[in-house]
Amino acid sequence: MLDLRIRGRKALVCAASKGLGRACATALGRAGVELTITARTAATLEQTAAEIRKETGVKVTTVAGDITTEAGRMQALAACPEPDILINNAGGPPHGDFREWSIEDWQKAVNANMLTPIMLIKETVDGMCARKFGRIVNITSGSVKSPIPNLGMSNGARAGLTGFVAGLARQVARHNVTINNLLPGPFLTDRLRSGIEFEARRQNVSFDEMLTRRSATNPTGRVGNPEEFGDACAFLCAASSGFIVGQNLLLDGGAFNSTMG
Ligand SMILES: NC(=O)c1ccc[n+]([C@@H]2O[C@H](COP(=O)([O-])OP(=O)(O)OC[C@H]3O[C@@H](n4cnc5c(N)ncnc54)[C@H](OP(=O)(O)O)[C@@H]3O)[C@@H](O)[C@H]2O)c1
Repeated sequence: MLDLRIRGRKALVCAASKGLGRACATALGRAGVELTITARTAATLEQTAAEIRKETGVKVTTVAGDITTEAGRMQALAACPEPDILINNAGGPPHGDFREWSIEDWQKAVNANMLTPIMLIKETVDGMCARKFGRIVNITSGSVKSPIPNLGMSNGARAGLTGFVAGLARQVARHNVTINNLLPGPFLTDRLRSGIEFEARRQNVSFDEMLTRRSATNPTGRVGNPEEFGDACAFLCAASSGFIVGQNLLLDGGAFNSTMG
C-alpha cells in the first residue's frame, strides 16, 4: 500500500458528514490523519465521526455548524486552529433557470462556493507556509470545466474560486503548501440520488431504471463511488504530492470528451 506519509497530521474537512466530504475524511483517517469534521446536522455528524473512529482509530473532533457563515468557520477553526490539511466543501447551489434567480440567490451561491473556501484559506495558509507543510483541496465540480446548463450558479461561483486559487497556489508552493481542486462528475451521494429520484419521477420510471440510464451515458458505464473520490483527495494530501500545484483534477469517468486538458 502507498504510504502517504501524513500520519499524525491534522485535517479540517468541511461539510463531511455525508457524501464526498465524508469520503475525503475517511480516506485521510485511514492514512492516520487526525480529523476535525463539520456539518450542520449534529446527529448525522456524530454518527459519521463514530464510524470513522471505529474504522480508522484516529481522533475525530466534530463541529456542528454552517461553514458558510463567519460563526461556523470560527467554530471550526477554534477546534482545529492549525490544520496541515484543509478540505473545502459545502452544499452545492440549486438547479434552475437563471431568470428566476435574485441577486440574493447569487450572493448565497458565491458565498458558499467561492468566498467560504477563500476565507478558510485566508485563515490557514500563512500558518501552513510558516510550518512548511500544507495541503488544501477544494471540492468544486465538473461544471467548472464543462458548464451544466441548469446549474448556472455552480458554473459561475466555482469558476471564481478556481481563478483565485490558480493565482494563490503559485505564491505559496515554495513553502510546500499546495492548493488543488477536485472536480467531481457524477458520484453516488445523497445529492446525486435526489437528482436521479427527481428525474425518475419526471420520466415515470423507477430509481434503478434512471440510475441505469444515467450510468450508460458515462464511458465507464457507471457512476462514481465516493470512496474513489476520497482516495484521490488523500493522494493530493500526501507528503510526496508537493509538486502537484494549482491543478484541476476531473473525476468523471471520462465523461468530459477531449484529447487532453
Ligand atoms: N455528488 C456529485 O455527483 C457531485 C457532482 C458535482 C459537484 N458536487 C458538489 O460536491 C459537493 C458535495 O456534494 P455531495 O454529493 O457530497 O453532497 P451530499 O451528499 O448532499 O453531502 C453534503 C454534505 O455537506 C454538508 N453540508 C452541506 N451544506 C453545509 C454547510 N453550509 N455547512 C456545513 N456542512 C454542510 C451536509 O451535511 P448537513 O446537511 O447536515 O450540513 C453533508 O454532510 C457539493 O458542493 C456538490 O454540489 C457533487
